[in-house]
Amino acid sequence: MLRIAVLGCGRIGRMHAENIHAHPRAALAGVFDVVSAASKDVADKLGVTEFASAEHVFASDDVDAVLIATSTATHVDFIEAAVAAGKPCLCEKPIDLSVDRVKACAEKIAGTSVPIMLGFVRRFDNGHAGVRKAIEDGQIGDVHQVAITSRDPGMAPDAYIEGSGGIFRDMTIHDFDMARFIMGEEFETVSAVGARFVSPELMERCNDYDTVTVTMTTSSGKQCVITNSRQAVYGYDQRVEAFGSGGMAISENQAENNMRLYGATFTDRQAPLLNFFIERYQQAFATEIDAFVDAIENKTAPAVGFDDGHKALLLAEAAGLSAKEGRPVKLSEMV
Ligand SMILES: NC(=O)c1ccc[n+]([C@@H]2O[C@H](COP(=O)([O-])OP(=O)(O)OC[C@H]3O[C@@H](n4cnc5c(N)ncnc54)[C@H](O)[C@@H]3O)[C@@H](O)[C@H]2O)c1
Repeated sequence: MLRIAVLGCGRIGRMHAENIHAHPRAALAGVFDVVSAASKDVADKLGVTEFASAEHVFASDDVDAVLIATSTATHVDFIEAAVAAGKPCLCEKPIDLSVDRVKACAEKIAGTSVPIMLGFVRRFDNGHAGVRKAIEDGQIGDVHQVAITSRDPGMAPDAYIEGSGGIFRDMTIHDFDMARFIMGEEFETVSAVGARFVSPELMERCNDYDTVTVTMTTSSGKQCVITNSRQAVYGYDQRVEAFGSGGMAISENQAENNMRLYGATFTDRQAPLLNFFIERYQQAFATEIDAFVDAIENKTAPAVGFDDGHKALLLAEAAGLSAKEGRPVKLSEMV
């Protein structure tokens, strides 16, 4: 059993702790959160150790690996601590909101053999991964266009938006990674537009957008469109489509069940969409832990690495610059 400790017992840390606890090849080695009530609650519920500090976690002989689910600003320090302690880590996205900080971290950990995996969970969704597999298997020929739709069911709290680093680095970051994953090629040019339709005052105050569209092209001219909104009144909208010379592959939304109702005055009524990321990506979060355990057990490179986190952040920076200056931005400008 691989003994994994969880740092951070907030929204997502609690879920990861439960998934590790339930995993057949992993054990939850314990948890730590600076808010002791949060870690005590998880430790008591799952019957595991509540560590006294992050330093205790990294120094413990009873911890083989660490899952970092703390607030974003702590990720770089904890990745560096994990590398120094020789403990493989799975770190939630994003690595950090600052490209300079990510670059400095990359330099510090360069050459390490300690596995570092990034929590771009959507790669592990069976539907989205199926689109990539269809491309790899040649089922849709040469890919020409990818379309990614990601809309949250409702506006996040003001405090969350204020500290998020902006929609491109907070929300679209998942889609930048998905675009690279599905396309299998790096993007060269990024154009983005943003609008303030949902919460204009908050967005104005934060110099942020709640509604964005990003278009990107690869050096071979392949195209990708990403659309994001902070509020879709019909629920969490998560779709990926790849179109190619030989066909198309679509990963669709998921409803609470697959029953479809037809009547005299309506057709095709369905149950509501799964509410938000914890429900919609339940399978993907579990598969992500499998992939982390597999990489460590088999001594293979994690499916999503530090470099993927760095590249997604560069795309986010390029999108922010494009929206601000109203022009296409070349990725080469960002390095
Ligand atoms: N993969 C995804 O889909 C996804 C979804 C949501 C959040 N996230 C990411 O996960 C991370 C956590 O998000 P969340 O929504 O769970 O936030 P949250 O605020 O609910 O939880 C963060 C927890 O970390 C704790 N913490 C902060 N600093 C700490 C430190 N130095 N040591 C120990 N604990 C510390 C806080 O007390 C809090 O309990 C963020 O980086 C976020 O971007 C990823």
